[in-house]
Amino acid sequence: MPKKETFQDLSLPALKGEQELWRWLYTELRAAILGGRLKPGARLPSTRSLAKQYSLSRGTVIAAFDQLLSEGYIRTQVSSGTYVAPIMPGQWLQANRRRSTLKVPASKATLSKRARAMIHGIDLLAPSHSVGKAFRSYEPAIDLFPVELWSRVASRVLRHAPRSLYGHGAAGGYQPLRRAIAEYIGGARGVRCVPEQIIVTSGAQQALDLAARFLLDPGDHVWMEDPGYSGTTQTLRAAGAKIIPVPVDQDGFDVKAARKLSPKARMAYVTPANQFPLGVTMSADRRLELLNWAASIGAWIVEDDYDGEYRYHGRPVAALQSLDHSGSVIYIGTFTKMLFNALRLGFMVVPERLANAFEAARSFVDRHPPTLDQAILAEFITEGHFGLHVRKMRQTYLERLSVLKEAAQKHLDGLLTIEDAAAGMRTIGWLPAGASDKLASKQASMLGLEVSALSAFALKKTQKPGLILGFAGCTPHELRRGVSVLSTDLRGSR
Ligand SMILES: Cc1ncc(COP(=O)(O)O)c(C=O)c1O
Repeated sequence: MPKKETFQDLSLPALKGEQELWRWLYTELRAAILGGRLKPGARLPSTRSLAKQYSLSRGTVIAAFDQLLSEGYIRTQVSSGTYVAPIMPGQWLQANRRRSTLKVPASKATLSKRARAMIHGIDLLAPSHSVGKAFRSYEPAIDLFPVELWSRVASRVLRHAPRSLYGHGAAGGYQPLRRAIAEYIGGARGVRCVPEQIIVTSGAQQALDLAARFLLDPGDHVWMEDPGYSGTTQTLRAAGAKIIPVPVDQDGFDVKAARKLSPKARMAYVTPANQFPLGVTMSADRRLELLNWAASIGAWIVEDDYDGEYRYHGRPVAALQSLDHSGSVIYIGTFTKMLFNALRLGFMVVPERLANAFEAARSFVDRHPPTLDQAILAEFITEGHFGLHVRKMRQTYLERLSVLKEAAQKHLDGLLTIEDAAAGMRTIGWLPAGASDKLASKQASMLGLEVSALSAFALKKTQKPGLILGFAGCTPHELRRGVSVLSTDLRGSR
């Protein structure tokens, strides 16, 4: 048997730099143990003799021993002494040794097929490093969000929140928030529901995901607006649905065309108040036709009312859900567009018979939304700040839209025709026939603008070339600057 190295054979390297003495001793002893120079079971000298050997105080040696002891490297035996532990902490010592000597092949484990289909072609939204950039279309006016008011409400709520709000919350959402939402959307959007039908979600996107996951089976046909919101297309694909692109005209989603394409679809996805991205409103007769179809064959309608509150001309159009007597509509709303993106709170209103099932299903997805944020939002709504903010923003967005139109008339005449948006936070700038909107948007992004091509949202039907221009979140100054940059871009590519 080879001779076991004893502590006396070890000479610890000298102290380097300005390390504390106890830490130096601890590190060197640990290295000797891990490196195998001090074997399991080896006896360590007494603290007194070690202190003498290295000219240390006894307290320093005791501190190093205490640390080794608490990490499991050494053991003490009453009236016998201190020994290197027989098994090293967490068995990781061995793994550690192997790593240093063996070549481990790189893992061949792969993503699932489903995940690969899910993420195919996705453009990740970059986190906002600035606000109000021309022509970002998915952000409201963060520059005008009443941050101080929000903080006051938040600190009051946090100061008075009972300890129970720090515990586990309800899967469907915080009850006072569900009540506040039900009351608000009843008045503002004509949505008929009781609080128990509301499931608070992480924005509209999670509501879309839950609806697709829990109401569809792989292979089910889903009517999807063409052009339409890519976030929905991806979610439907992820759920394994077969997407049936349905054309949209000036009256919105073409129900007759849809019935011809796939009469027995299981779900229809629509944005009736402000079609994404064309901005048209679905006509009353098409709404009724869609509801009748769904009721007659037992299909679902997902109504995405992501920014239905911002209507600039005529009276606000009530939600499709308000006409639904059969319980076929899943209504979706979001506070990310009404307040600010980072809040990530939205909701879905499900028919009464689905309420329990959705609560149960949601509970295993991510348990529940953050309760304290929900409590702050509930207070913000019930104290009337939310309604006031939305009314103010409606006025502001109308003003920003006219700034955009005015500047475009001056600088983009003949290059881009701005659609007079009746609703929402963005509009379309039509390019001359034959132009490439993908190329124009690519060049605009190289000049620092955030502009999407309309054709990027087309599924099957070829669209006239157009650029999607957000205006709600951009200051008038930024809108004018953006128009001037865009005019350079478009003139250059003529
Ligand atoms: C039509 C539409 N639906 C849903 C969403 C998702 O909204 P949220 O950010 O609340 O998840 C968006 C976001 O831009 C959207 O444009």
